[in-house]
This record gives sequence, C-alpha cells and structure tokens, in this order.
Amino acid sequence: MSSKILVLPGDGIGVEVADQTIRVIEKLNEQGLDAIYEKDLVGGASYDVNGEPLTEAVLEKAKNSDAILLGAVGGSKWDDVERSKRPEAGLLGLRKELELFANLRPALVFDALVDASTLKNDVVNNLDIMIVRELTGGVYFGQPRGIEDTSNGKKAIDTQVYHDYEIDRIARVAFDLASKRNNKVTSVEKANVMETGVLWREVVKETHKDFSYITLENMLADNCAMQLVRNPKQFDVIVTDNLFGDLLSDCAAMLTGSLGMLPSASLGAEKNGKRYGLFEPVHGSAPDIAGQDKANPIATILSLSMMLKYNLNKPELSNKVENAVQQILSEGYRTGDIYTDETQTLVSCSKMGDLIIERI
Ligand code: IPM
Ligand code: MN
Repeated sequence: MSSKILVLPGDGIGVEVADQTIRVIEKLNEQGLDAIYEKDLVGGASYDVNGEPLTEAVLEKAKNSDAILLGAVGGSKWDDVERSKRPEAGLLGLRKELELFANLRPALVFDALVDASTLKNDVVNNLDIMIVRELTGGVYFGQPRGIEDTSNGKKAIDTQVYHDYEIDRIARVAFDLASKRNNKVTSVEKANVMETGVLWREVVKETHKDFSYITLENMLADNCAMQLVRNPKQFDVIVTDNLFGDLLSDCAAMLTGSLGMLPSASLGAEKNGKRYGLFEPVHGSAPDIAGQDKANPIATILSLSMMLKYNLNKPELSNKVENAVQQILSEGYRTGDIYTDETQTLVSCSKMGDLIIERI
C-alpha cells in the first residue's frame, strides 16, 4: 500500500523549501518509495484563508496520513493576531493533538561545511550530536497561564508542569537512540532551582536502570549552553524539556554553520501499530528572504530523509538522500546562508533542489 504524506508548507520560505522537497519525493517514487502526497495549509497561510492556523479538516488529514512534512510557520504579518490564532498555534496544535512528544534534532557538521561554522574548525569538525527535546509538555502547555489585571498592575503567568510518565517516555527515547550511537546520554534540567528539574533528574535515574549499559550524566541547563559552545564533542545524546530543548537546539544548530542545514523529527507514542511523525526543518519562516528563491532547502530535504528512516521504514532511500546532500556540498554548491568564499558556487533554492535530485 502507498504511504500517505501530508505536506504543510506553511509560511515564508516554508513554501519554497517544501516545493523542492516534494520534487525529491517524486524522484524517490521512481526508485521504490511508493508515496502519495497531498498539500494543505497551516500557520499564517491557513489563518489568512480560514481564520485559523489549523483547521479540523487538516488535523483530520494529518491523523489519516503516515507522515507529515512541514515547512515553517510564522511571520511579523500576524504579530497582532490573538495568540490562539497565531501561526505558531497551528504547529503547537499539531504537536499536541498527535501527541508528538519526542523531538529529535540532530546537529551534524558536514566535512565540506566545517568553515561555515563561527566556531573553530577543531571544535566542530566531525561533530554529531542528537538533541532530544520533550515537545508536548512543560511551560509551553502548562496551566494556568495568561495575563491578568491585579491591584498591583498586570500579571503574566506561565506554568512549568511535568508528570513522571512524560519524563520516563522521553528518557526512553533518548536511551534507545544512544544505544544505536555512542551510548551516552546527558540529561539537562535546572534541578538546582526548579521542582520539575528535581523530578526530571529522579525519573531519568530510575528509567536508566533499564539501560544500565548507557552512560548517564546530569547537567544544569545553563552549564549545558556553555559546554555546547566550549566543547560540543563531549555530547552524544542530550535529553531535555520543551523550553530548554528549544533554546539548546538552536544553539547546537548554529555549531553546524547554518540553521538552514538542520532537520528534525517529532515522533508520537506508538498506538495501534502506528506512530505519528512530523518532520520539519529547525529553521523558521525567514520572511526577509521569502519568495526570492534564496532559501536553503537542505534542512527540509534532510527532514524527508529522517521520515524515510524513522517513519516509512526506507533506510536505503534515506541514505540515498543524505549521500546526495553530502555530494553536492563536497562539489562546492552553496545557498547564500552557507556560502563562505569564491571557490564555491552560489546557487538558488530551486537550483539546489535540481542538483540534489540529479544525484539521487
Ligand atoms: C521550534 C519553534 C517553535 C517552538 C515555534 C514556532 C512555536 O521555535 O520548533 O523550535 O518554539 O517550539
Ligand atoms: Mn525554536
């Protein structure tokens, strides 16, 4: 049976990078993928047409597909829209409704790109770390929240909440990934000041008993931010909560030279033999360069590669895509965000798509 992929390009450069990735799907279909895809709206693009960033109909389609590919959401155009209808609410809604609790964000430095990093070559060369971010809990979803009037002026509240089962299941994902990598997990929280940090550390320690062959280290989040730029190669898998994971993964992404290179996978719990998966680049919608055919489509194309590996069970096609990306970079082709000197060839988003497709 064909796999069903729902493509949600979203806003800004999301549209361009999703278009190039669709072309990759078509190419892979000639090589045994057997996928059908359908495009629909999410984020600001959906708000403009439907008055909401995620419609029931799209959510239903998402539930009926085998995997979702998302471009990016957001842009200053929607700054004045109320929070529940802003583009980001569409993405958060998908994560919550599909219970996509595990967000895998690899930070991998390609040989050919080591000079695109702002860090010294020997700090980042051969870097390969995986950040596992909890994605459906914590302060992004905790209640109560809101802004209220008080006798003392306005008051804003966000609430950080974690249940033990949420920590246990994300820790299992991290230990499991580490067992296929370098057998080390760094669990990151603020147990020195936060109750959720204390519980986080306790639960991870307990879960670790099932994975005693993995080295477990605990690290405070502020220290982790510092260690990521000081000596990132000390890490293998980092597991952390929603907020810290959001921050630390942007930081780790930049070690690799450009946010334009980094894919991500958001995986759900296994239910009835099915596990929802949403695949998206780590970068945002970059309104400043949107519509100019300048964006780097590689992060989205590599997100498709993660989909092939984690959701559609096509590891050989996943490798093909990764190899094509490696090849194109070693041949010196670069979009603007990773262009560093005149020995390289500066190409557009669509040209980068052409070049990768030719090599698959
Ligand atoms: C990300 C993004 C989102 C987040 C936004 C767009 C809601 O920054 O995926 O990291 O904060 O999770
Ligand atoms: Mn983010």
